[in-house]
Amino acid sequence: MSARRIDGKAAALALRHKVADGVAAFRETVGRAPGLAVVLVGEDPASSVYVRSKGKATVEAGMDSIEHKLPDTTSEADLLALVDQLNNDAAVDGILVQLPLPGHIDSAKVIDAIAPAKDVDGFHIENAGRLAVGAEAMVPCTPLGCLHLLKTELGDLTGMDAVVIGRSNIVGKPMAMLLLGESCTVTIAHSRSKDLPALVRRADIVVAAVGRAEMVRGDWIKPGATVIDVGINRIASDDGKSRLVGDVAFDEAAEVAGAITPVPGGVGPMTIAMLLRNTLVAAHRREGLQDPQL
Ligand code: GUN
Repeated sequence: MSARRIDGKAAALALRHKVADGVAAFRETVGRAPGLAVVLVGEDPASSVYVRSKGKATVEAGMDSIEHKLPDTTSEADLLALVDQLNNDAAVDGILVQLPLPGHIDSAKVIDAIAPAKDVDGFHIENAGRLAVGAEAMVPCTPLGCLHLLKTELGDLTGMDAVVIGRSNIVGKPMAMLLLGESCTVTIAHSRSKDLPALVRRADIVVAAVGRAEMVRGDWIKPGATVIDVGINRIASDDGKSRLVGDVAFDEAAEVAGAITPVPGGVGPMTIAMLLRNTLVAAHRREGLQDPQL
């Protein structure tokens, strides 16, 4: 391996410490802690794990964690009523409705019911639009975490060729907008793109967010490029167990890249750190304070 290994775990820890300092200062000034409400509908095991770790991280940062666990039989109307209640709750600065929701609930309708100022996921259409026009927005946590790692690694990104593989509303599209905001030349590629390897070979920055295990091969990577792997895929391993891999064939890519995020321990830990950051930012904006310097 010749590439530098980008330590997302360490970066996330450092950011969480800064958020905790910011929370302490906010409490001094405003006389209350920022509050994050997390709503989980049903008992999907992966979602339950995420919600538990979000709650723990929220409390560790000194913020109030408000958890609503609802049965999977909850009606859309009841969920919308809860969102409305949280929108109007002065102690709640951020609202996160864990996805996926059960099939009988329209996720888009629920997301669009969240007050944009409290939408710490940055999934509301108003926040997506604000990000697209370069206005102040709540920005989705995973792409924000990727950008943080890229800027820490590379400094100024101006003029760099970036390829984002994946066009989801949660990662690919906001990632492309953030990179454009940093004056990169951005290509949004996806599973249907013609000659994906050739597109990736041009890139100084590769962000892989397609959800296909080890799809991006080492010989697609331009020597010295920085590779950010958003994928988390569980595959069978040789010993009959399973292991987590990204969307990038790590060992191959690490021979060619300048720097690369591992899976796990790369982008993953940054997502929760950015959720805490977004909650602190939302709290400042609601109180008419300047954004905290993080
Ligand atoms: N499910 C998996 N990741 C996320 C996330 O970042 N936010 C929400 N709301 N649900 C998720």
